[in-house]
Amino acid sequence: MTGIHKTPQWQTLQTHARQMAKVHLRQLFAQDTERFERFHRRLPGLLVDFSKHWITDHTVALLLQLARAAGVEARRDAMFRGERINTTERRAVLHVALRRPKDHPLVVDGRDVVADVHGVLERVLAFAEAVRSGAWRGATGEAITDVVNIGIGGSDLGPRMAVQALGAYAAPHLRFHFVSNIDPTHMARTLAVVRPQTTLFLVASKTFTTQETLANAHAARAWFLQQATEADIPRHFVAMSTNTEAVRAFGIDPANMFEFWDWVGGRYSVWSAIGLSLAIAIGADKFREFLAGGHAMDEHFATAPLQDNIPVLLGLLGIWYRDFFGLGSYAVLPYDQYLEQFPSYLQQLDMESNGKGVTHAGLPVAYPTGPVLWGQVGTNGQHAFYQLLHQGPDIVPCDFLAPREPLHPLGDQHHMLLANFLAQTEALLRGRTLDEARASLHHLPEEERERLAPHKVFPGNRPSTSIIYDRLTPWTLGALIALYEHKVFVQGVIWDINSFDQMGVELGKELAGALLPELVSGESLGEHDASTLGLLRYLRGDD
Ligand code: F6P
Repeated sequence: MTGIHKTPQWQTLQTHARQMAKVHLRQLFAQDTERFERFHRRLPGLLVDFSKHWITDHTVALLLQLARAAGVEARRDAMFRGERINTTERRAVLHVALRRPKDHPLVVDGRDVVADVHGVLERVLAFAEAVRSGAWRGATGEAITDVVNIGIGGSDLGPRMAVQALGAYAAPHLRFHFVSNIDPTHMARTLAVVRPQTTLFLVASKTFTTQETLANAHAARAWFLQQATEADIPRHFVAMSTNTEAVRAFGIDPANMFEFWDWVGGRYSVWSAIGLSLAIAIGADKFREFLAGGHAMDEHFATAPLQDNIPVLLGLLGIWYRDFFGLGSYAVLPYDQYLEQFPSYLQQLDMESNGKGVTHAGLPVAYPTGPVLWGQVGTNGQHAFYQLLHQGPDIVPCDFLAPREPLHPLGDQHHMLLANFLAQTEALLRGRTLDEARASLHHLPEEERERLAPHKVFPGNRPSTSIIYDRLTPWTLGALIALYEHKVFVQGVIWDINSFDQMGVELGKELAGALLPELVSGESLGEHDASTLGLLRYLRGDD
């Protein structure tokens, strides 16, 4: 493919961006009373407002032309058909198959992957129900009280975020812990609050070779064996992995392993057996609702015309800011305490997928790709970094998420939450001019007014998307995750990068492997830069 930046669609957008840079969002709203009507979309239980963006009808038309020129629809269809669109690893990308109903077969390389998915799903859900109900007992006959998921990256962030997000539906008699960090503090602090007789360890690793996870799993097993025997392990350790041999080598009977497949990327794996902790927390029916929410978004993404296709529209808006205005930072701000970990979940989804520097053909990309994604729940963020969002020199496009209804009504607090959410998006859009700032200080003497007024100016014109869902249910969470997955997909297609590998994490892993013996055994030091050598010597106590 010719570089997307060389297409007429891209170049027309560049010209258009220069014009749009001169227009303030205030003007766009003043000129067009129908703006909200035209620039919002609804799905059952969900409203997405993208009217507070630097766009006109013309902008959207041009962006949609760019999507067509990049072949977004063809690539999307190829993903849903199970083609090997993960080009570097020559793999299909089929997390969408994980949430497909049983009666929608998908044959890839002569095999119905949906039948395989449902085979494992039945086992996962039956096991989850047994743990929840107390039918699954520890080796001493006691019921499980604590579930410890040991995993990192996609084998941690998805289940960790979802168990928290769906806390309102979780079994109250079970506690969930997520140990990911190689820092021994993480495991030590967890083991300090659980008992071996009543703890179930879920060792979650797609490859079952990840250093952090294996070290933590070994530590957990050693701790467990202080008060139990090898024969007790099957009641307290299960694995979720694609690597049967490594699971067996670790000492977990493959009968206690829940399988998934190489076509499930780690950051897309919460829907697979990796979601076992979530299934235990919310139970089989709610887990199925979670899958159904993801599937509903898949159907929307697969079939809605591009101009109504929410992941496509949100993906294009991200491209608009990143590539035509050079904005490198992007914030996700949930006004929902249950979504506290959603931004860090999205960090892996977005940044590990699209933080890439070469095209499918291995050529350096000639345009910016994935932005830095970050965020925090409102209103906490308001009292921390919103100052920069409103008055800092950098413009950060934001996604605001909020539920229409609270799960825990408490006086008028939900309305207060929503008022804050609305106020922030409005303030970002509108800002406050110098004259307005002066007017707001009318009670002060003129000299004082003039001194303070510039500090109270807000430039405004800061774009945001508002995503409102009825209430955070398993279905809604499933739909929201899939929405972001597909948004990231659309952007990867336009950038012509492989969103499904993660080679950028490898070099650090290799170097850590080489550094470990130098650090521990006092071996002679290999070749390092002077800084690394100095730090190594200091850590070893050489000088
Ligand atoms: O950090 C790289 C990575 O490969 C992620 O993509 C993945 O989610 C994580 O490590 C954990 O991998 P695994 O599930 O194989 O332990």
